[in-house]
Amino acid sequence: MNLGLLAFTWNLPEASNMAAPVDRLFNFLVVFSTICFLGIVLGKIYFIFKYWRKYRPEHVTPYITGHTKMEAGVAFVLFVIVMVIFYWGWIDYKKMRDVPSDAYEINVIAKQWLWEFQYANGNLLTNELVVPLGKPVNLIMTSRDVLHSLYIPDFRVKQDVLPNAYTTLWFVPLLPGEFPLYCAEYCGTAHSKMLATVKVIEPEAFEQWEMEPQAAAPAPVTAPPGVPAVVPAAEAAVPVKTLAETGKDLFLAKGCTACHSVDGRAGIGPTVFNLFGATVELQDGTTVPADENYLRTSITDPRARIVKGYQPLMPTFKGQLTDEEMNALIAYIKSLK
Ligand code: CUA
Repeated sequence: MNLGLLAFTWNLPEASNMAAPVDRLFNFLVVFSTICFLGIVLGKIYFIFKYWRKYRPEHVTPYITGHTKMEAGVAFVLFVIVMVIFYWGWIDYKKMRDVPSDAYEINVIAKQWLWEFQYANGNLLTNELVVPLGKPVNLIMTSRDVLHSLYIPDFRVKQDVLPNAYTTLWFVPLLPGEFPLYCAEYCGTAHSKMLATVKVIEPEAFEQWEMEPQAAAPAPVTAPPGVPAVVPAAEAAVPVKTLAETGKDLFLAKGCTACHSVDGRAGIGPTVFNLFGATVELQDGTTVPADENYLRTSITDPRARIVKGYQPLMPTFKGQLTDEEMNALIAYIKSLK
């Protein structure tokens, strides 16, 4: 089917679990709007001729004062239609927001003008996103500079990527192959060249791929004076350090251990053991979920939210960690269970 605008969606493969629901709602809106448009236009043309006095001079236009019941009825029907569309959209939207707990996590860092994909095994890919077929994948995304937006048309997913915060986007790839990934938010000179490829491969091939190093090991962590340098463990099957291992090195190198225990003991600051996913009680009596955004803000702006029972003593680490390091640090804290 190749009919102008509609061809745009109708020709796209439904390559993720989000595609079918998005297409259903979109097609409904197109067909429903077309029917309404035709009804209004054809009705108008019909009445123009029916009440044209040139042809029926005997007709006298009656004095119309309005019809409350009919007007209220029309408003009510329109209201119901709008609410049905809203509810339908909300169900699909909720599905997009509820990330399955077993989703495979990949960190995304958007930069002017490229995409970086950081994997749990330490792999760092540029402009190439490799994902397993049929498994839920959750992208945890941030930007180093300005607003970007990650957009995979074949998956029908799009999400803004912001600096200094994390946004997430999840999907289950349903078709193997390669799919284009675009930046969908104007972000400067080379915005239109900010492209990447999504490679969907069989789960077995993905496991195999995970075992292979894809990038040079991240920059070595230099220990501050007085803190023993971190000696990497003997070369394992995966020569690249995992994200959590890099995070552990950073945790030591940045001196976090001085105040935060990793085994549940209380210290100058709260422990980071079992922290991720917990609910944190703050000094002002409110509670916050300890998610990626909470951890990130606590590192860059520690005095913004003080945990109940603790003093605002932590210095800020704003500007001292790259986004890659921040992701590693959070991956390490996540691993402490
Ligand atoms: Cu990044 Cu447009």
